[in-house]
Amino acid sequence: MSIPSTPPRETRSVALVGSGRLGGAFARALRAAGVDVLGPTGRGEEIPTADIVLLCVPDREIAHAARAARGRAALIGHTSGATSLDEVDFGIHPLQTFAGGDGPDAFEGIACAVAGRTGEALAASESLARAIGARSFPIDDDRRAAYHAAACIASNFLVTLEDAAERVAGTAGIAPADARAMLAPLARRTLDNWERQGAPALTGPIARGDDATVARHRAAVAALPDVAALFDALRDGTRLLAERNAS
Ligand SMILES: NC(=O)c1ccc[n+]([C@@H]2O[C@H](COP(=O)([O-])OP(=O)(O)OC[C@H]3O[C@@H](n4cnc5c(N)ncnc54)[C@H](OP(=O)(O)O)[C@@H]3O)[C@@H](O)[C@H]2O)c1
Repeated sequence: MSIPSTPPRETRSVALVGSGRLGGAFARALRAAGVDVLGPTGRGEEIPTADIVLLCVPDREIAHAARAARGRAALIGHTSGATSLDEVDFGIHPLQTFAGGDGPDAFEGIACAVAGRTGEALAASESLARAIGARSFPIDDDRRAAYHAAACIASNFLVTLEDAAERVAGTAGIAPADARAMLAPLARRTLDNWERQGAPALTGPIARGDDATVARHRAAVAALPDVAALFDALRDGTRLLAERNAS
């Protein structure tokens, strides 16, 4: 999807609140789309007047920031996946991870959950998504928790898993940077296979029923108790998945 050269009327000016990971990414993408971006403003700074105020603050700060933004714009939105629209007019949640320093094309082609309390608010959210090149899809408040839990399992928990792999590799004498360089292509290919095939993408000793190998892995991770607990939960979950694949 290409970024429109002329932004739709309702995205003429956007005041961003919160200059963290997403606030910075939104600022770069909206500016690249020709939107007049004010801010992002930080904690305690006055929020400028604009067509839209978009809150890019932690979920726990949304109510406070929304109160500060009242009267600054016709529409106030948040960027949270899990938070209801109780305190704002619309929500726009890009289904991507922003770790800081992302370029203006970071939203190109990604899914973006949109919602609005009114038709006008929903249209503004969809328009913002279009301006940054994202594909919008509607999300109801009562489905947000499950939607966002799926996103966190797919992204945040993946980092926890890869960190565990990096640390276990460390016990085999592999330096952290080397471990990441070696394991990342494996993880990427696995993700690609899973995207294409779903659960049948599972390979490895559990899928093959090589229980003695799995027991040796368990012994090898015992020195890292938190990793061992993770291993046990994932071994059991993976066995269930392998059974499902076999049935
Ligand atoms: N990062 C992502 O991958 C991602 C993806 C999709 C959606 N989101 C959503 O984006 C929102 C922000 O997440 P983030 O990852 O960008 O968080 P972040 O990197 O921690 O940044 C949050 C920023 O908001 C500022 N802030 C906190 N309270 C404020 C207030 N009352 N007024 C103005 N600024 C305030 C913080 O300043 P201080 O440092 O002073 O606290 C910080 O600069 C969340 O709702 C999150 O769900 C994030």
